Formats: sequence, C-alpha cells, structure tokens
Amino acid sequence: MQTFLHGRDLIGDLDFSKEEVETVMDVAFDLKRKRALNEPFPLLRDKVLAMLFFFSSTRTRGSFEAGISHLGGHAAFIESKSTQIAHGDTPKEIGEIFGRYYDGIAIRHVDWGVGNKYINDVAKYSRVPVLNMQDEIYHPFQCLADLMTILEKKGRDLRKKKMVVSWAYAASYQKPMSVPQSLILQMPRFGLDVTLAYPPEFKLMPDIMAQAEEQAKRFNTKFEVVDDMEKAFKDADIVYAKSWGAMLTTTDTEEGAKIIKKYESWITDERKMKLAKPDAIYMHPLPADRNIEVTDAVIDGPNSVVYDEAENRMHAQEAVMALTMG
Ligand code: CP
Repeated sequence: MQTFLHGRDLIGDLDFSKEEVETVMDVAFDLKRKRALNEPFPLLRDKVLAMLFFFSSTRTRGSFEAGISHLGGHAAFIESKSTQIAHGDTPKEIGEIFGRYYDGIAIRHVDWGVGNKYINDVAKYSRVPVLNMQDEIYHPFQCLADLMTILEKKGRDLRKKKMVVSWAYAASYQKPMSVPQSLILQMPRFGLDVTLAYPPEFKLMPDIMAQAEEQAKRFNTKFEVVDDMEKAFKDADIVYAKSWGAMLTTTDTEEGAKIIKKYESWITDERKMKLAKPDAIYMHPLPADRNIEVTDAVIDGPNSVVYDEAENRMHAQEAVMALTMG
C-alpha cells in the first residue's frame, strides 16, 4: 500500500495536516471494524518496528506491539538502558543503523529539553519513518486516540462542543505536559471549543500556547484559559483532566512538592462533574492517581471513557503505521 503519508515522520501533532489526520481516522475506524469482525489486515507483512524506550510505559508499548502484530509485522522492544547509548551511540548511530535494520523507529523520550531534540536528531539520519511515542512537548499518538474516542462518543460534528483540558493534582511524579499541549494543538482543527484550566504555576510552553491560539483562529473555534477548575467544567461536553509538572526554574524537588500541595482540591469528583453537561464524557490518558487526580466514582462511573480511549491507541497507531511504513 503506497500512500501520500508513506515515509513520513510523526513527531509533532501538526506534522500531519488536518486532511491527513482525517485519513488516519478513516483508516483507524476501518481497522477497528476489521478487528471486531476478525478480518485479517496484513498491511505490513514482515515489516519490523523498533520501539526505543527511555521511559516506562504500559499502554504505549502494549498498543504498538499488538498493533504491528495485527498488521502482519513484528516489534523489537529496546530499552535505552540496555543499549550502547550511554557508551557513545549518538542519535546519528541510532538513525543510520536502526534505519537500515527496521522499517520504522518509534521513540519515547520525555526528558525536559532533551527528548524532542533527540527524536528529531534520529529522524535527520533515518531513512525510515520516525514515530514519537511521547516526548516532553508532544504525545501525538495519545492525541489521535483521544480524537478517535471523541468522534465515537460525540459524533462527527464537533463544532460548538466544549472540551475542558484541565490540570489535576497528582502526587506520584511530575508528569510531562505533552498530553495537554497535543490536545490544544489538534482539537481546534476538528471544531472543538477548548477551555484550558491550570493554576498559575502550571503554564504550558509559550510557543505551544501561541500555536494553539493560531489554530483556534484559523479554524474559527474558541480557545480560553482560566485558573479555576470548577469554572472550566461548567457546561462542558468533554472533560479531560490530568496532572502535569510545573516549568520550574530550579530542579529543587522540594520546591516542586510545596507548589503542587497548594492545589490538592484540583481533583475530578462527582460534584465537579455535575457542573458539566449530564452526558459529558470523562477522559484521561492513564495512568491516573486514583482518588488524588480523579475519584474512583468518576473514573469507574458511567461517563468515563478511559478504557475505550486506551483501546483506541492501538487502532490509531495501526493506521499511522500502515500509512507511513507501508
Ligand atoms: N497514556 C500513555 O501513554 O500510557 P503509558 O505511559 O502507559 O504508555
């Protein structure tokens, strides 16, 4: 299968045009239907995807590995710590050499100020598509799965629908800001009005904010920023609330912990969900800090679509792999 996305990288959310993302969605829905009917779709027979991880994963590894197998190919799971990267293999070696062994290179590297540059550097030297399995700026495959889930639950016409992308309190670790950044870049293209909510210390990157405003203007949608979770939830059709870390000027983790502690009330609970529309869906990319970021009642409740969202990672990724690596 030779397509117009053949050979392309997916590193930032806007690397594919809106029309190209629509094609990804069409293929993803088709492959999801085929899987439900147990119809085989060996579009990447004998192709191999390298999956290079600098950071842990449950869903990303599982869904890419299952996805390439459904396409008739194979995945090579490579943890950075078991390679010679610490002993001198630069992104040039990874791009040049893996580009000769494999048919695609997928990388997760979320270190602040390092991950996105690393993935782009590998892409510079790779002769095969490079896929971003999450860096510190973008999580494009999560965002494609989220878009697919929203289209399934809210229909194809998303204009005038309100999506809240909210910061939430979490105690486990400083999570990357890539998910909210990907969402505010991609969703305006599909007609959603986006309300972004965060406490003052949890701003997103200024360059991404400027691009999100530009996207909203271009696609004639609303983009507002508030510092109040409850205000943001009011009349929402889609509630997407998750934690992300602060852009600290210091690496002092105690300072980080002190800042975050002030916002323990930023939890998604049933009372806050009642502020949204009765049929509002609750989304989270997972893992979530249960009863800290979101209550069990919400995440396990009737409005939660988190498991469909996790499943759609696999269908969206199969579509991108088929279109780029075919
Ligand atoms: N949502 C997500 O990327 O999950 P993992 O970190 O488990 O891959």
